[in-house]
Amino acid sequence: MRILIIGSGGREHALAWKLHHSASVTALFCAPGNGGISEIAETVGVKTSDSPALIRFARENKIDLVVIGPEQPLVDGLSDLLRQEGILVFGPSKKAAQLEGSKVFAKEFMARHGIPTARFGRFSIQNVHEGERFIAELSPPIVVKADGLAAGKGVIIAETKDDAVEALHDMVGRRSFGKAGERVIIEEWLEGEETSILVISDGENFVTLPAAQDHKRIFDGDKGKNTGGMGAYAPAPLVTPDLMSQIEREIVIPTLRGMALEGNPYQGCLYVGLMITQTGPKVLEYNCRFGDPETQVVIPLIDGDFAELLRSAAAGPIAREHAKAHGASAVCVVMASGGYPGDYDTGKEIRGLDSVRSSDGVVVFHAGTRRDGAKVLTSGGRVLGVTALGFEHDLAGTIDQAYRAVHRIAFDGAYYRSDIGQKGIRRTSETQRTYLNKSKRPEGSGS
Ligand code: AMP
Ligand code: GLY
Repeated sequence: MRILIIGSGGREHALAWKLHHSASVTALFCAPGNGGISEIAETVGVKTSDSPALIRFARENKIDLVVIGPEQPLVDGLSDLLRQEGILVFGPSKKAAQLEGSKVFAKEFMARHGIPTARFGRFSIQNVHEGERFIAELSPPIVVKADGLAAGKGVIIAETKDDAVEALHDMVGRRSFGKAGERVIIEEWLEGEETSILVISDGENFVTLPAAQDHKRIFDGDKGKNTGGMGAYAPAPLVTPDLMSQIEREIVIPTLRGMALEGNPYQGCLYVGLMITQTGPKVLEYNCRFGDPETQVVIPLIDGDFAELLRSAAAGPIAREHAKAHGASAVCVVMASGGYPGDYDTGKEIRGLDSVRSSDGVVVFHAGTRRDGAKVLTSGGRVLGVTALGFEHDLAGTIDQAYRAVHRIAFDGAYYRSDIGQKGIRRTSETQRTYLNKSKRPEGSGS
């Protein structure tokens, strides 16, 4: 199988790495790729927004399957254009991608299909006063979301009602998010712990991959500004087998069925961002693609031929046997440029990459790098996703394995969180305590 991946981040490097190891893959291309992807795939100098050039490349190079990484080309309809040319694509249609492209669409869809989510209202400049009244009914914190794509920045968690009103006016009046904020969702704040579920679907049947947890804030202890994601781990013990069944029953199945019923069957990877609340799982957001950095920890856990999994989902029916998880744990620590998510410098030489080997159970996924001769230089905010795969370890062992590799890599100003995966450790010890209490044994005895 000849595969073209579209995108250039850590997620695409992880996809490329897994496809590179798939027996059915005979040629692998990535447009535009990055300094890490170029080691395992032929990189193609075409932008993700240049649909005509991507179609031409796919045709001329007899590509059997295109895998689209980022949301923007999906929301813009790249998969429809490729399909019109008879090219097989893993990724939802423009209409199905609205689940991420429009929060108004997503929330109203959930309301139509009884999918659990935060109570909400939708507002624009036309009914801004209704928005103010809705804010008055809620208790802070209050969540104000721009409707359209806003590179992960379109969600404001307002600590007071006044701040929520201000955020509403900023978006619909002062257009702080441009067209993306023409319409807004205002919703109640949900308390709980977050998890990300990746679902692979052929439009009807599906498979859920092991649950992951992202770490969105820049500083340890989930403090500071939101980022694209500073690390992830999987599987997340928060999501027990019972909870996963509930998520499939109450959320995944109604979502896929609802999309099909409305004439927009969802084919591709559906990312379901959930808050696990006291009253059960609720959807925070849908994404129409693999998560970043969740992909870096979820994909390595899958056994089977990943290319065949994606091809079968794209062509239907999905071959679920290629998605079995092999019981390991994975931890990805993101190394970022100093200053990120604010301003940062690029062009710093990365040292120590050669000292990290896959034989140590570590893969370094590149997010923002480029090659300059023999050197690898930083070229973005998130630079590397240092990912450990712990076949023989518990989560704590896999975390150590990841940080040992992080300590061998260096570049000027490198920053990373030091608590990736700790939520999982806390959860595991809580579960053990509950179990021990239930079985009336003194705490700490036996493990
Ligand atoms: P979204 O892009 O909608 O997932 O929002 C980004 C982040 O904002 C989520 O990952 C949550 O951390 C937070 N968030 C969004 N909506 C809510 C909500 N209703 N309650 C609590 N936190 C939220
Ligand atoms: N990790 C969050 C996202 O991919 O949107």
